[in-house]
Amino acid sequence: AERLACIRLLPKAELHLHIEGSLEPELMFQLAERNAIQLPYASVDALRQAYQFHNLQEFLDLYYQGMSVLQTEQDFYDLTWAYLQRSAAEGVIHVEIFFDPQGHLQRGVDFSVQIEGIYRALCDGETQLGISFRLILSFLRHLSEQSAFETLELAMPWLNRIDGVGLDSSELGHPPEKFARVFARCRELGLRVTAHAGEEGPPEYVWQALDLLKVQRIDHGNRALEDEVLIERLRNEQIPLTVCPLSNLKLCVVEDMSQHPILKLLDAGLRVTVNSDDPAYFGGYLQDNFAALLAHLPITDAQILQLIRNSFIGSWLSDSEKQACL
Ligand code: HPA
Ligand code: ZN
Repeated sequence: AERLACIRLLPKAELHLHIEGSLEPELMFQLAERNAIQLPYASVDALRQAYQFHNLQEFLDLYYQGMSVLQTEQDFYDLTWAYLQRSAAEGVIHVEIFFDPQGHLQRGVDFSVQIEGIYRALCDGETQLGISFRLILSFLRHLSEQSAFETLELAMPWLNRIDGVGLDSSELGHPPEKFARVFARCRELGLRVTAHAGEEGPPEYVWQALDLLKVQRIDHGNRALEDEVLIERLRNEQIPLTVCPLSNLKLCVVEDMSQHPILKLLDAGLRVTVNSDDPAYFGGYLQDNFAALLAHLPITDAQILQLIRNSFIGSWLSDSEKQACL
């Protein structure tokens, strides 16, 4: 309990957070009512009951359904503000958050509505809560390359507010190579690049993310452990891995928290960070993820400090901003 209290007090960064995945059932019901949308659940409790997943896709189905209540700029603001308030209370001082524009465009919600709401909350978070931020446009990999290019086109007027791009959604069957040209264009535009890889997908997808997308970090990356040569590559280049313990448990990427590979990844010399991914769906925010590690793994104080330091080192803050945090 004392170690957890210390972790809460330490300044931390979160690098892998889908803002739509921070939509708590209570807020989902509020927004559904505000927008006269009928949810297929009788109550908040009934909705929470449904959060039992056997794999990534089962989660994604509810995640896309859940985000359908997000309609107005104010909805996106309220969503983002709620996440920032919770994070501030846990000692988070820097966040790099994903949003999934295609998940909203498909429902007729303009790009401008999404980004205006999210960005206004992020700015308020910076001034009122002292949380710095980066914003990451994430492409849905189950959609086509063309859809990703169209989304990038819609984002063009807003590139001064977007720091980088990511790649998420259904991993199996949608290898990074599908988006090599989109990511090349994003890099030309000066955007930073990251991609989900090695969550459910094989080590080959991590290789592709590195070699074809030329990513600056890997989101998840658990399955890299199946390939020694890949581990060596990740270590040599100190590629940050944004690992998400509770997410891995809820999506059955690991059988049990005591089986989580995070200490193996750390022991292999990789730049591992701890993140919450979709906290409203996976049973907790950043602090809860640390609590789960402490409860089930023989993690040392030095390892905890390393994970927290890595969250700044692996961030997209400038070198001088990082220095101020380390
Ligand atoms: N993996 C892939 N896509 C996602 C995730 C995830 O953990 N969360 C939201 N979209
Ligand atoms: Zn994710």
